[in-house]
Amino acid sequence: MNTGLDYSPAAVPVLKAVFMEKFREEILDGLNQTPKRLQSKYFYDKEGDALFQQIMACPEYYLTRCELNIFQHKTAQLAGFIRSYFNKEFDLIELGAGDATKSQYLLKYLADQETTFTYIPVDISGNILSLLKKRLIAVIPDLDIRCLEGEYLDALSNAIELSSKPKVVMFLGANIGNMEPHEATVFCRSLREHLKPGDLVIIGFDLKKHPKVILNAYNDQAGLTSQFNLNLLTRINRELNANFIIEQFEHYQTYDPCNGACKSYLVSLQDQIVTIGHKKITFTHDETIFMEISQKYTLKEIDFLAENSGFMPVHNCADPKGWFVDAFWKVV
Ligand code: AVJ
Repeated sequence: MNTGLDYSPAAVPVLKAVFMEKFREEILDGLNQTPKRLQSKYFYDKEGDALFQQIMACPEYYLTRCELNIFQHKTAQLAGFIRSYFNKEFDLIELGAGDATKSQYLLKYLADQETTFTYIPVDISGNILSLLKKRLIAVIPDLDIRCLEGEYLDALSNAIELSSKPKVVMFLGANIGNMEPHEATVFCRSLREHLKPGDLVIIGFDLKKHPKVILNAYNDQAGLTSQFNLNLLTRINRELNANFIIEQFEHYQTYDPCNGACKSYLVSLQDQIVTIGHKKITFTHDETIFMEISQKYTLKEIDFLAENSGFMPVHNCADPKGWFVDAFWKVV
């Protein structure tokens, strides 16, 4: 299979097999826990990618529009920060790049200013990276781009082996929200360990705001978030030879304004037994599967996270509503 990607484990049969085995183990492990859980990183198959793109365009899901506003209207400021720290070539690594809708403004701006850099997008979905590559080459024909498919930290290690140039690591879209706060600290510390003093990171955080606004973003009228969650069951049916009856599960969303945790669940609508390969999983009526956390932050919590993981906060770029920030941190 030619995916056009520079590193695509899914295109290499033996690595694809390794991925499938890990997928199977993590799904079964999560469903055998009490309470049951599944990992949202597995939402992103082809259908999941398409659903997430629809979510980003839906009226209630403000996050993408807020961050897009920052990248469209504060491009010069963003590029200025990068250029003030680096006067020579650097690598711009983007973790969870998706289709690069937001970062393309920054990339275009840097390219127009004749900044020399290599763009290294990383994503767990090889499917979305193929789209990203086609799209960026059309907009920025001279862009030096290397696409890496994989999980964040594995791919970051690969990206770092490619060169010893200074690094800017972007982690946008509030993807960090998919980690529990303690996991986010562990992740940022590990990110720090991969980098050198002077390197930069830009992390997108969704801020705490009126709880109704947040809850609505995940309870959209069109039911896209519900489909996005249920699609993982469909994926498990197809890829792991399972027999979930999708209609017998229902999406349920919560937001706790005290701790900033926005969580989604699937609720079993009846007693049922699901078979995954040769394993059986029993669900009782009203039993939940914890699917995803989308953690919300205050500016204070963001600065604390930086300092607690070996970074110095440089600047927070906010959208006009003050709903979302892209935080600039420097490795100390
Ligand atoms: C891509 C992780 C930022 O948590 O807001 C959107 C994914 N889940 N709607 C988020 C998501 C449900 C999204 N992130």
